[in-house]
Amino acid sequence: MKVAAVIVAAGSGQRAGGEKPKQYQVIGNKPVLRRTIEAFLSHPAIGHVQVVIGKGQEQDFATATAGLNLPPPVQGGDSRQSSCRIGIEACTEFGPDLVLIHDAARPFVSQELISIVANALSATEAVVPGLAVADTIKRAKAGVIDETLNRESLFFIQTPQGFHFSKIKAAHAALAAQGENALTDDAAVAEKAGMKVHVVPGEARNRKLTTAADITAADRELKQMDMAGRPDIRMGQGIDFHVFDKGNSLWLCGIEIPHTHKLKGHSDADVALHALTDAILGTIGEGDIGIHFPPSDPQWKNARSSIFVAKAMQLLNAKGGIIANADITILAEAPKISPHIPAMKAALAPMLHVTADRIAIKATTTEKMGAIGRKEGMAAMASVTVRLPL
Ligand code: CTP
Ligand code: MG
Repeated sequence: MKVAAVIVAAGSGQRAGGEKPKQYQVIGNKPVLRRTIEAFLSHPAIGHVQVVIGKGQEQDFATATAGLNLPPPVQGGDSRQSSCRIGIEACTEFGPDLVLIHDAARPFVSQELISIVANALSATEAVVPGLAVADTIKRAKAGVIDETLNRESLFFIQTPQGFHFSKIKAAHAALAAQGENALTDDAAVAEKAGMKVHVVPGEARNRKLTTAADITAADRELKQMDMAGRPDIRMGQGIDFHVFDKGNSLWLCGIEIPHTHKLKGHSDADVALHALTDAILGTIGEGDIGIHFPPSDPQWKNARSSIFVAKAMQLLNAKGGIIANADITILAEAPKISPHIPAMKAALAPMLHVTADRIAIKATTTEKMGAIGRKEGMAAMASVTVRLPL
C-alpha cells in the first residue's frame, strides 16, 4: 500500500496573530510546520509528504524546511477545503492507494496515531481521530439554553484523517464543481460523498494550535521537556592572556575592533574566545585548547578563533550537551569594550546555539596595576554552564 500525507499549511493564522502565520512560528527551537512535517517524514508507512502553503509563504516555507527531503510545495486556496483538494491532486503522480490529510497546526501528532489511522483504512473507507467530550454540551440562542445535547454521541475531531486516495480525490473534485468550498474538514467532504467515516481514539496532545496562548504554551512545554532531559548541570572556566603587538585592530569575542595595537598570537589571538573555548572544554573534561589546536601546528596560523569554539561545541553537542549560559570578563586598560558588547553577543549567540540573553560580556581595567595596567596586553576569563543528559 502506498500512503501519501498531505499537510495543509496555507492558512494565515488570523486567530493566533504574530509576525508570521502560526505554522511558521517557532516552538521549542523549531517552526511548528517543521515538527509536523518531520512526524510524517519519519513514519515508515508514509512514502510521500505533500505540503500545501499559502501565497507569499515560499520564503518562510524554505526556511522552516531547510535540509528536509520534500517535493516542492503547492499553493493552497482561500479555504481549508480548497487547500486540501489542491494538495490531494498534487499527490496523483506519486500514485498513492491511501492518503492522510493533516493540519500543519497540529505538530504533536504521534507516530502511533499516524499508524492507527493508516492501519484502520485496511478495513474502512474513511477514518478520523476523535476525542470524547467530557463537558456537557448545550445549544443556546441569545444566551438562553435551547437544548442539551447527548454528549455520548459527540466527538472533538482531529487530524490526520485517512481516506482511500481516488475516492477522496473524486469527492473533493465533485464538491468543488458544485461550488461548495467551506467545509472545515475532509471527513465532511467524505460524508457528503456518502462514505462511512469511522472514528478512532484521538490524542489530547494532538491539539490544534489556534491562539497565541496555545503557541506560547507549546513553546514552554517543549523547552521544559528539553531541560528535564538534561538534568546534569556542569560548570567550566577558562582564562587566557595575550600581549599587544604593532597593528591597528584586534579580534575580541569574534569581532574585529579598531585599536592602536593588535593582539599577538598564533591564531587571530581572540583572547576572549580562547578563554571561552577552555571553559566549554572544562565542562566535559576534554582538556584545553592547546591539546586540540597545538600552537606548533602551522594549520592554525592566523585561524579565526571561532573554529576553536566550534570544536568545543561539537564535543559538547556530541554528548547531548547544550550551553545554559556563558559569562565572559575582559581585563583591559584599552580599548573601551562596552560599545562593542551588542555586536559581540550577536557574534557569540550562533556559535553557542543560544539566544543573546544567555551571554554576558563584561570588561574591567586593572586600575593601571601590573602588566595589563601598563597596556602590555589583555586577559579574558570565561565561565560556562552546560546541561547534559544523564
Ligand atoms: N489551512 C489551509 N488553507 C486555508 C486555511 C487553512 O491550508 N485556506 C490550514 C491551516 O494552515 C492549518 C489548518 O488548515 O494548518 C487548520 O486551519 P486553522 O487552524 O483554521 O488555521 P488558519 O486558517 O491559518 O487560522 P485562522 O483560522 O485562525 O486564520
Ligand atoms: Mg482557519
